[in-house]
Amino acid sequence: MQKQVFIGLLGLGVVGSGVVKMIENHREELSQKLGCDVAVKRVLVRDMNKQRHLAMHSPMLTSNPDDVLNDPEIDIIVEVMGGIDEARHYIRQALQNKKHVVTANKDLIALHGQELLEVANNNRCDLFYEASVGGGIPVLRGLTDGLISDRIQEVMGIINGTTNYILTKMDEDSISFDKALADAQQLGFAEADPTADIEGLDAARKMAILARLAFSTNVELSDVETCGITNISLKDLEYGKQLGYVMKLIGLAKKENESIEISVQPTFFAKEHPLAGVKNEYNAVYIKGEAVGETMFYGPGAGSMPTATAVVSDVMAAVKNMLLEINGKSNLIANLDKKITPADQRFGQYYVRFYVKDKAGVFARLSQLFHDAEISIERIIQRPAGKDHIAEVILVTHETSLKNFQTILQKLAEMDSLESIQSHYRVEGVKKQ
Ligand code: NAP
Ligand code: HSE
Repeated sequence: MQKQVFIGLLGLGVVGSGVVKMIENHREELSQKLGCDVAVKRVLVRDMNKQRHLAMHSPMLTSNPDDVLNDPEIDIIVEVMGGIDEARHYIRQALQNKKHVVTANKDLIALHGQELLEVANNNRCDLFYEASVGGGIPVLRGLTDGLISDRIQEVMGIINGTTNYILTKMDEDSISFDKALADAQQLGFAEADPTADIEGLDAARKMAILARLAFSTNVELSDVETCGITNISLKDLEYGKQLGYVMKLIGLAKKENESIEISVQPTFFAKEHPLAGVKNEYNAVYIKGEAVGETMFYGPGAGSMPTATAVVSDVMAAVKNMLLEINGKSNLIANLDKKITPADQRFGQYYVRFYVKDKAGVFARLSQLFHDAEISIERIIQRPAGKDHIAEVILVTHETSLKNFQTILQKLAEMDSLESIQSHYRVEGVKKQ
């Protein structure tokens, strides 16, 4: 085995700079743990004239991808440039050139992970992507190594730091959504264009990746029912508090009777649930297995050094495989048939807030509608809405099917005395009676 492994880096931004720092600062430990030296040889950037903190690396920089992808001395390509088309093209080229690939690119893996894993396998190369979900938290390896022997039943996670930060600040400091988002952008958690964060798409991509590994099934991004946090109001958070709940943007993937339910949606959590205590930009993934029971992975879901930790650990895994000559053997391709759970077999509790005319008979009608929809009510609050003869109703259901809940929303909307349905959210983590 050679005494030195060279890395080609695609991208020198937040994550790429962290990777360079980590490989330099931990060089001795890496060498001692691996039995060979690891060094960055070339770095692809877009703008050669940009001022960079890592100025001493300027001789390594290039804006020509072939200088990195076709360099015969480079064994491992680290893709930390982001985007879809170019990244996909470069990764394919790297694999076809028999180079192992490590990427942090959740957008790409969520969309084209299966295809790229097949190219990797055909070329006997590793393709690792631990940093694509949960930044520095080793949750993918948790699934593919630590829990590989078990049958995973459920994966539930707070996997977007920006939205968790926004919801924590709105809940604890009562600041507006816009102000909390601006703070998250200033602190560097949010993407430059935060749409994918706040609309739930970033979390949906991560859930597709997690569900594929948890259930060995080719879950696609379009299978993830997705709703973001842009409509959440301080009023709902306040009512949630009164009911003993905290709001989180939750990714949920559940397998029951060989069928998978997968979603990203704002969810009220009972304060006692471990995910309710995950605050600010932190991420956590709760995994339930048939044999192991409940486990939880917690830590920083983004940022330069946490994400670089996952990337460099993947590089080390590829180097170890090189030493053992087993590259390409640990790429897991999800190959079980996919069945998505229909709405009448998806169960949960729900919170709904609406305005109705405050007059005789309205509550009798409401009870009738809930009875007809076979939904039992767990809690109900009625308050004057501040307008004449209008009442605000906040109601939490017992567990019911999604289909029944959709029916009641429809029936409420058709009711003469209804003014408006303001919001509705799933409720989790409440102990069943
Ligand atoms: P970033 O700060 O925007 O850096 C991107 C780097 O890639 C820059 O150095 C840029 O060059 C280079 N680049 C982009 N497009 C290029 C192109 N077409 N050709 C050549 N170079 C190109 O991004 P980042 O935050 O490091 O994120 C990188 C990847 O990691 C993304 O896939 C992201 O989703 C993922 N990720 C990020 C985090 C995080 O905390 N930031 C966490 C987990 C995963 P210039 O410097 O010349 O502009
Ligand atoms: N924008 C992402 C987040 C970065 O807030 O979690 C890490 O993927």
